[in-house]
Amino acid sequence: TVFPSPQLASVQVAARIANLIRGKQQLGEQAVLGLATGATPVAVYAELVRLHQQEGLSFANVVTFNLDEYYPMLPTAPQSYVTFMHEHLFDHIDIEPGNIHIPDGTLAPEDVADYCLRYEQQIEQAGGLDLQLLGIGRTGHVGFNEPGSAPNSGTRLVTLDDLTRRDASRDFGGKESVPRKAITMGIGTIFKARELVLLAWSGKKASIVKKAVEGEVSGEVPATYLQLAPNVEFVLDAAAAAEL
Ligand code: GLP
Repeated sequence: TVFPSPQLASVQVAARIANLIRGKQQLGEQAVLGLATGATPVAVYAELVRLHQQEGLSFANVVTFNLDEYYPMLPTAPQSYVTFMHEHLFDHIDIEPGNIHIPDGTLAPEDVADYCLRYEQQIEQAGGLDLQLLGIGRTGHVGFNEPGSAPNSGTRLVTLDDLTRRDASRDFGGKESVPRKAITMGIGTIFKARELVLLAWSGKKASIVKKAVEGEVSGEVPATYLQLAPNVEFVLDAAAAAEL
């Protein structure tokens, strides 16, 4: 779906998430959301905050699982995805702190594998992801599933691509300060979500969006795996859709 602007698209996506949350509330059930970071979803989160503050949308029945976190990373660091999510969403809504899940960037290396298995189990125990929000990196990554990721991959520790680290360098004051690794949900984890919504804005994303939507399905561009997902929507602005 192509919108004239990121703002209009973001309002629409936030409304879809709000409908999901309200629908689950009526059934007395939890809504399980998979969330993404980066500049792209910021306006969606701002609109969800507005819906909470001005239109009474409650997040009391919402459980969240974030896609990824840098490794190593202290939750209190300004660049952590924990800081990002609190700043843009969690600090402004009525979500239960115990319902928030973000991969832990402080684990000892020997604890990471068990932790990743537990993250998968926690998603399952919550009932599975109702909706997973995704951005797309210029390498074609979703979450931090870089080129070479397998379609059935689970939550795991990955090595970041050089381009991804260059794109993140502004947040860290130079590429050398960007962590070399991250913990990310896998392609297989993402595929289990009942709905996938990938957002991309601006001409900077146009060529990778074209590859993701129209290119041959290949681990070289992990977002192409989404062509095989049963319930996925690409939500784009006109500039990101320009090469389709
Ligand atoms: C990071 C995140 C991704 C995100 C991507 C694009 O690598 N781990 O989840 O989709 O950046 O970021 P932006 O939205 O800032 O373009």
